[in-house]
Amino acid sequence: MSEKIKWVVNKMPKSDDAHLGIMSLENVEAARSFHRSFPQYDVTPLAKLDALAGELGLKDLAVKDESYRFGLNAFKVLGGSFAMANYIAQKIGRPVSEMTYDYLTSDELARDFGQATFFTATDGNHGRGVAWAANKLGQKAVVHMPKGSVKSRFDNIAAEGAEVTIEEVNYDECVRMAAAEAEACENGVIVQDTAWEGYEEIPSWIMEGYGTMASEAAEQYAAAGVERPTHVFVQAGVGSLAGGVVGYFTNLFPDNPPIFVVMEADTAACLYKGALAGDGEPRIVDGDMPTIMAGLACGEPNTLGWDILRNHVSVFVSCPNWVAAKGMRVLGAPKKGDPRVISGESGAVGAGLITTLMESDEYADLREAIGLTEKSSVLMFSTEGDTDPVNYRKVVWDGAYPAE
Ligand SMILES: Cc1ncc(COP(=O)(O)O)c(C=O)c1O
Repeated sequence: MSEKIKWVVNKMPKSDDAHLGIMSLENVEAARSFHRSFPQYDVTPLAKLDALAGELGLKDLAVKDESYRFGLNAFKVLGGSFAMANYIAQKIGRPVSEMTYDYLTSDELARDFGQATFFTATDGNHGRGVAWAANKLGQKAVVHMPKGSVKSRFDNIAAEGAEVTIEEVNYDECVRMAAAEAEACENGVIVQDTAWEGYEEIPSWIMEGYGTMASEAAEQYAAAGVERPTHVFVQAGVGSLAGGVVGYFTNLFPDNPPIFVVMEADTAACLYKGALAGDGEPRIVDGDMPTIMAGLACGEPNTLGWDILRNHVSVFVSCPNWVAAKGMRVLGAPKKGDPRVISGESGAVGAGLITTLMESDEYADLREAIGLTEKSSVLMFSTEGDTDPVNYRKVVWDGAYPAE
C-alpha cells in the first residue's frame, strides 16, 4: 500500500503582511519587461487540459509549461537573472529598467561594472539559470550542488562555463558554503533563491522574477475566456516560488483571491511542518531528504516566502514520491485532444495531487476542504521538464513509483 498524502488546513495567526508588496503588480511588470528584452524570451505555453478536466469533474484545468523557458527546461532562470540585473543596477547606480539584455551584454556594461563572481547553491535548476545568465552577461559563476545530485544536471551547469561541484552535504549546507565563499571572494556575491535573516534583497528580486511566469499565466487565463482561476496549486522547496505566485495572485485579485494550495515533498515538508505547529513560526527539516522531487528537497523556508504563505495559503500538503510520479504520467500521456506536457518530478506533483483528489474518495475530506467541484478552474505550474531524463523514463516508461 502506498504512503499517504498528508495535509493541514492553515489556521496560523496572520502577520502584518509586510512582504506582500514584493509581488506588487508594478514589481512584476518590471521583471517581465526585463525578461522580454532577452532574445530567448517567449511566453511559455498554458496547456489547457479540457478533456482531463471533464473526466475529473472540474470546470477547467490548466498547466503552465515551464519546460519551454529560455530553452533551459525549468522556470528558475527567471529569478536568478532578474536578481543579477538588480544587483548590477544597484552597483552602478542606475534603474533596473535600463538593464536590458543589450545593455548588459555591451562593452559599456563591461566598462561601468566590470566582472563579478556569482555564487550559488542548487539542486540543479536555479544553478543552471544563474550559470546561463552569467555566461550570457559575461560574468563568472560558482555553483555547489548537494549530495546525490545527478550527472545530467551537473553537466548542464558545467556546459554554461560555471565552476560547479557536487558536495557531500545537503542543499541547505551548500547554501551556507556558497555564502561563505562569496563573502571571502573579491567582487563575489551570493545569488541564492532563498532568504534568511539579514539576506533579503536578492531573494526578493528572485521572487519578483518568478512573477513573470505568474503574470503570463494570468494573462493567458484571461485570453482563454476564464476570468481567474478559482484554485492555484503550487509546489515548494524553500517556498520562494510559492510565495511569489501566491503573492502575485493575491495582489492581482485583492477582493477575491483564488484558493491557494502548497505542495511539498514529504521528506522535506518544512512549510507543512510549520503550518502543523500552527503558531506562525517557520519550522526546519534537516539531514538527508531523499525524494525524487530534487527541486523540492529543501528543509529551511525562505523567510519572506513563509510570511506570504502563512497569511494566504489555505492548505499545505505533504506528498510522497508516487504523487509526483503519477503526475508525470498523467501529463505525459494525456487524454485525446489535450496537449502533452513533459513534466519532471518537481514539476508534476500538482497534476498527481489534483487527479488523486478528484478520483479517490480516500481524500474526499481534502477535496471538500478546498472546495474542488465542477465549478472550479484550477491552475498549476509544471515548473520543469525532464531535467533528469534517466529518471523520467524510469517513471513514465517503466512505471517506477506506482500509486499502489
Ligand atoms: C523544478 C522546480 N520546481 C519547484 C521548485 C521550488 O521552488 P522553491 O525552492 O522556491 O520553493 C524548484 C526549486 O529549485 C524547482 O527546481
